[in-house]
Amino acid sequence: NTAMLMSRGALIVLEGCDRTGKTTQCRKIVQGLNDSGMKAKMRTFPDRSTPIGCLIDAYLKKECEMEDHAVHLLFTANRWELMPGMKKDLEAGVTLVVDRYSFSGVAFSGAKSMLDLEWCFQPEQGVIRPDVVLYFDVSLHEAAKRGEYGSERYEVRSFQEKVAANYAWLRTEDWQVIDGSKSVDEVYKNVMSVVKSVISKAKSRPIRYLEL
Ligand code: TMP
Repeated sequence: NTAMLMSRGALIVLEGCDRTGKTTQCRKIVQGLNDSGMKAKMRTFPDRSTPIGCLIDAYLKKECEMEDHAVHLLFTANRWELMPGMKKDLEAGVTLVVDRYSFSGVAFSGAKSMLDLEWCFQPEQGVIRPDVVLYFDVSLHEAAKRGEYGSERYEVRSFQEKVAANYAWLRTEDWQVIDGSKSVDEVYKNVMSVVKSVISKAKSRPIRYLEL
């Protein structure tokens, strides 16, 4: 059956502020899809395993300083370097479940006073467009109750407030807001119903590319 042979995987992106449960749900989604016999892989941005990712890791751990525009472009370059492999996976029918993507890039860099949101978006144009962005909505008050922020750069409440406002600016019809304040199992049930319908719709649709 040619339709089956040609069907591609979906690009599913999870976004949101820190401590909203994205990473936990990414793992559970991939596990759930694999358990039901579907091809799925997790991807994480930044991908700290590449040479560019090493620089980003050192920056986030505050082991080095970098100019704001320069580090923004490194985060973007880290996505671009992974694009050929991600495209290959999608074309091979593998669904990619991605912990943070271009929207983190814009929302976090844009929370710095010197960087303009549209400027931040420009170099993201042309990366593969997600079939859905699951935006994990948890009030900062609720997120703070989940425990202390870590010690990495950006893990500061006042900064996270700006990030949340930038996410609101970025929202499009591709986005689905997930109430992340529910229990892990309830959130999982909600995201899985979205994920399954997105995967079946993406199958027959060509890969698209992100634009502002
Ligand atoms: P993590 O906490 O999910 O590992 O993400 C690392 C930090 O990097 C997080 O504070 C968000 C930030 N970030 C950016 O500033 N730009 C980006 O493009 C991405 C993917 C993450």
